[in-house]
Amino acid sequence: MRHVYVNGDYLPETEARVSIFDRGFLFADGVYEVTLVLDGRLVDFSGHMARLRRSLGELDMPFSLAEEKLLEIHRELIERNQISEGLVYLQVTRGVADRDFNFPLKSTPNTVVLFTQKKSIVDSPLAARGQHVVTFDDLRWRRCDIKTVQLLYPSMAKMQAKAQGADDAWLVKDGFITEGSSSNAYIVTTDGTVVTRDLSTDILQGITREAVLLCAGSLQLRVEERPFTVEESENAAEAFSTSASGLVSPVVSINDKPIGAGKPGSITAHLRQLYLERKRASAI
Ligand code: PDD
Repeated sequence: MRHVYVNGDYLPETEARVSIFDRGFLFADGVYEVTLVLDGRLVDFSGHMARLRRSLGELDMPFSLAEEKLLEIHRELIERNQISEGLVYLQVTRGVADRDFNFPLKSTPNTVVLFTQKKSIVDSPLAARGQHVVTFDDLRWRRCDIKTVQLLYPSMAKMQAKAQGADDAWLVKDGFITEGSSSNAYIVTTDGTVVTRDLSTDILQGITREAVLLCAGSLQLRVEERPFTVEESENAAEAFSTSASGLVSPVVSINDKPIGAGKPGSITAHLRQLYLERKRASAI
């Protein structure tokens, strides 16, 4: 049985408990990170922890566990659950308090939960065939740069995409694509430029995004960080998404219109390969 971490204890998942008064449960008052595990090692761990600290800071949420301790917990769970490939999920909430819109005292202990997911990530059928995406209005709140656990709209958009026979939703704000339901979004123009939306409060600053843009630079590709429209995506040569759980994942159609040849593109494949090589080498 899987072992999880809850507030200092390693427990079988069936014995793990969180209070019904937890602010994560009642107010979605929590933040999270999802870190990729390759060959039993963590990919971009310090980047994820830096983003966690940023999310906590933006929400004025006190948190005192040191990065060293968090690393130790991640590694302990990988070890106990024998994760060679998969994900480690970390969630921190503002803790347990009687229901009140006011934040509780700063001294209220956080709730800290971690668990692993064993998953075949590199060998993904979806990456091999390419994703079909459909677009939806981006109805999320206006602080998408904070990685909070209020994921209902992305989850709904994904379900609506599935109901339409697609694999995922790309979200659109004022005619421009922001990002995927749980990934950053990119197109490759017919002249080989990689385009992805610039960082702002409209999108999550993906840890994979940062690494993949560095890979694009190494491959001498031109990169433009700017908003792009649905129409530009339909006319692109290639498209893809990035995330810790999907790596670099090709997109082959948008709103039922094929992108390029309607097959995973070669620039996308190169980026995926270089990203994987680098991350296998640098995982800790
Ligand atoms: N999602 N944008 C959104 C809205 C996301 O939820 C994610 C990640 C990303 C990509 O970020 P990163 O490259 O750091 O994984 C972008 C994670 C994987 C999830 O919720 O499962």
